[in-house]
Amino acid sequence: MSASKSFIYKICVVGDGGVGKTSMVLRYTENSFKENYIMTIGSNFSTKSVELAEFPQYNIKLQIWDLAGQKHFSFVRPPFYRGATGIIYVFDLTRRSSFSNLLNWKTEVEKVVAGRPSILVGNKLDLAESGNREVALQDGESLKNELQALSYYETSAKDGLKVEDVFKDTVLAILKASNKI
Ligand code: GTP
Repeated sequence: MSASKSFIYKICVVGDGGVGKTSMVLRYTENSFKENYIMTIGSNFSTKSVELAEFPQYNIKLQIWDLAGQKHFSFVRPPFYRGATGIIYVFDLTRRSSFSNLLNWKTEVEKVVAGRPSILVGNKLDLAESGNREVALQDGESLKNELQALSYYETSAKDGLKVEDVFKDTVLAILKASNKI
């Protein structure tokens, strides 16, 4: 039997203010959701251990940095990108401007770390499905290609839909990029 190998990966979650970054991380790490909006000041940090049934030989600890999305925090964000092994780009399916802004987010991230595996997420699927959708599925797929992200997910942090998949896929992408699988 081979000994298990441990890795620590740093993931940065970025996107406009209010798109649901903190909510996604909270759903993933604590399986909970809060209706009230508490703006992130600077950054939030959490950790989570990940076990992949397909790769039991790996013991992975995620360090998740959820960065403040509001414009006035742009000057504090760059140092947090340093050392990131994966990036999750998030927009709000019910707010078109948060979708269009992701190209600017990529520019901001890539000034510090370039070429890291990334995943694109359109969040608030529950609201989109109740008639408030401003970004079509095909537009999300096109932006995925433009950002050179590896996959595109539509999630609901509120309902917990696909959130786990986003983080799992990010870990798989990092393992692939570092030739571990
Ligand atoms: P900043 O801290 O400003 O960067 O915002 P953020 O991207 O971290 O957003 P946050 O997670 O604080 O969510 C903003 C608001 O949207 C909160 O009121 C959440 O309850 C709500 N929200 C987040 N995700 C969802 C979702 O999937 N569905 C619905 N209906 N509301 C959501």
